[in-house]
Amino acid sequence: MQITVVDTANETQIVPFKRYEYANLMELIVNTCYDEIGECRGRGLCGTCVVEIGEGSSLTEPPNKKEMEVFQNMNLTGEEVRLACQLMLTHELDGVKVRVLEGY
Ligand code: FES
Repeated sequence: MQITVVDTANETQIVPFKRYEYANLMELIVNTCYDEIGECRGRGLCGTCVVEIGEGSSLTEPPNKKEMEVFQNMNLTGEEVRLACQLMLTHELDGVKVRVLEGY
């Protein structure tokens, strides 16, 4: 499986991953291509790992309570916005393009 990550400098990287290889998408991104996110280490508090989910998404679960609270505090809306630390590495992310949002 693989995912395309676009960082805040608009650099694009294709990152291969295995199911549950890391605890979540944030850890995959931090450990493979972009380590400027994940301030709260995946506790769903800091909002630095906000990503926009692009084409190819087959995510079925809506944002959880932690995500909704962070988005509300950040005035973020839109179904395509998620916290990378709250997304598990499953087949639903295979082929997805995610953009790390700047300024969070
Ligand atoms: S790492 Fe802090 S909210 Fe995701």
